[in-house]
Amino acid sequence: MQPITDLDVLQPTSSAPDVAEGIDAPKTLPATVDAPNGKRVFIETYGCQMNVSDSELVASILAQDGYGLSATEDDADVILINTCAIREKAEDRVRGRLARFRGRKVKSQPDLTIGVLGCMAERLRKKLLEEEALVDVVVGPDAYRDLPRLLAETEETGQAAVNVHLSREETYADIAPVRYDTNGVSAFVSIMRGCDNMCAFCVVPFTRGRERSRPVTSILAECAQLVDAGYKEVTVLGQNVNSYRVEENGSVVSFAELLYRISLLSPELRIRYSTSHPKDCSEELLHVHLERPTICNFIHLPVQHGNTEVLRRMRRTYSREQYLDLIGRARSIVPDLALSTDIIAGFCHETEEEHADTLSLMEAVGYDHAFMFMYSERPNTFAARKFEDDIPEELKQHRLAEIIEIQNRVSRERNERRVGIREVILVEGPSRRSDEQLCGRTDSNHMVVFDRVDGLEKGDYAEVDIMSCTSATLLGEFVRKTTLEEAVAVGA
Ligand code: SAH
Ligand code: SF4
Ligand code: F3S
Repeated sequence: MQPITDLDVLQPTSSAPDVAEGIDAPKTLPATVDAPNGKRVFIETYGCQMNVSDSELVASILAQDGYGLSATEDDADVILINTCAIREKAEDRVRGRLARFRGRKVKSQPDLTIGVLGCMAERLRKKLLEEEALVDVVVGPDAYRDLPRLLAETEETGQAAVNVHLSREETYADIAPVRYDTNGVSAFVSIMRGCDNMCAFCVVPFTRGRERSRPVTSILAECAQLVDAGYKEVTVLGQNVNSYRVEENGSVVSFAELLYRISLLSPELRIRYSTSHPKDCSEELLHVHLERPTICNFIHLPVQHGNTEVLRRMRRTYSREQYLDLIGRARSIVPDLALSTDIIAGFCHETEEEHADTLSLMEAVGYDHAFMFMYSERPNTFAARKFEDDIPEELKQHRLAEIIEIQNRVSRERNERRVGIREVILVEGPSRRSDEQLCGRTDSNHMVVFDRVDGLEKGDYAEVDIMSCTSATLLGEFVRKTTLEEAVAVGA
């Protein structure tokens, strides 16, 4: 999924090779004032948006047990690292961090508790304790309710405590998360967990278990609370959101229906989602995009590869032609639809011709953003069991570089089309480079930077004229403050 895509499927194209969404910059939660039970927890999060959302749940579960949060490792009694297993590099990063925390425990803080959460915990289970000395708790993604007990147990016995049970039901529907995003403008809302797709390269079905959808009422209640708290944007999350499905009063609620109902909550709430598998992108969903203008004109639709034979080896269940057909239909139903994707370079047995098909597909589709990775073999996956990881590292790198080069050019071209257009953006706060500038995203998920103006705050909608661009950013000029309702009414 969209750092922290996988955590930020929604970030602009990265030019660095194999930058997983979110593994480049771990996320941490802000400190709380109190720690009623006298203990502070520092949570560091790697991986996708689902992991960010899970860390918010973990913070909430621990707060109910009296733990306070620490914003740094320095004044923490407990360090929890929420991990990603998607590529080997993601795991290497975590192991590096664990070595650092271990050093702290040995040298200066013998009673420090170190816990490993998330996908790496689930993948390695007890093996993690053998491979990583001085880890005290190992907790898989479906066992977070058990964390207070596991922490108490390890404190009491001095032994490591493990719960990696995967559930068919757990959706944490009743837990109100502590929000990461302190800007108070946009929030993630988890609507389902797990994945049943079994793509050949992917570890997620093993680390996250079976697919299950969260009840509609609890999703709507959480979104309504966010609206009341002044949030202006929600991104609903799942590994494959468009297979969301629950039965309610004898009838089925689909993902399209769920989005429709969320869109009725407030005319000022923008709605995004991530991430979607092409096989389940329905006409109903595309029509909801058209009918409900607060649902953003942007879909992250990972293709993974441009060649039908490779897609078959990857077990993606669609061909190049079917994917291109879907893009055509989506663009005919939803005008000006922006698209992003995930692409893997150097999958098992990939020939030069097959790789060339990925390049030509990228040209044909013209993605606004892309997340691009070198194939990394993951133990026990279908690909690891059936195919040899036979593309040499240098060749993978070379192919990835070609993919990135095309995407950077295409992203720039897509951005250039927006120069001269008036866009409505949701202000997120100061730009990364300067406090004198503000930034915000268009409905199509393009980041716009413009000079700060008095009276304009984060959480406001504004009209901006796009004056120029780079491959990652649009540069704008403020026109006036607006509301989403007004912008929709005038068809902006
Ligand atoms: N559920 C999401 C993907 C989650 S993982 C979806 O199907 O769209 C995010 C991305 O990581 C994937 O889309 C894929 O491009 C990449 N990825 C997954 N496994 C990988 C592997 N073994 N090597 C390299 N990239 C991988
Ligand atoms: Fe992995 Fe495929 Fe599931 Fe996405 S849909 S999480 S790539 S198995
Ligand atoms: Fe996400 Fe990484 Fe797990 S991408 S689902 S945190 S393996």
